[in-house]
Amino acid sequence: MGLHLDHIAIAVRDLQRASQLYEQLLDVDAGSTEEVASEGVRVRFFSCGETTIELMEPLGEASPIARFLEKRGEGLHHIAFAVEDLSATLKRLEKQGIKPHGPVRQGSQGKQICFIHPRDMAGVLVELVENNNIG
Ligand code: CO
Repeated sequence: MGLHLDHIAIAVRDLQRASQLYEQLLDVDAGSTEEVASEGVRVRFFSCGETTIELMEPLGEASPIARFLEKRGEGLHHIAFAVEDLSATLKRLEKQGIKPHGPVRQGSQGKQICFIHPRDMAGVLVELVENNNIG
């Protein structure tokens, strides 16, 4: 048992420029680019071993990522763990006193996601992603 690291998400001001940096660092081509309107972001994925680096650029001023960049600048935004059954995981966590921050919703690639606030997770925003294909 235990959770798998699904991705690490980094907030960037300029997706094009940051993509170049991460292509050079990771020695891979960028994967697909996707707009996730519900989260107010444009994201691009870079495969990195068994996990993925996700760069996130705000779609507009109202985007939570725009506010994040304004307050904290570019950098680590969240880490995401894959879970087989999101609602079962949330029930387990709730029993342990860990509550989700906001509702379960649809994230990139049509997956069900949920966040846990940094104040409840030692200063790190945590995302849980339902992934039924965990090997
Ligand atoms: Co994410």
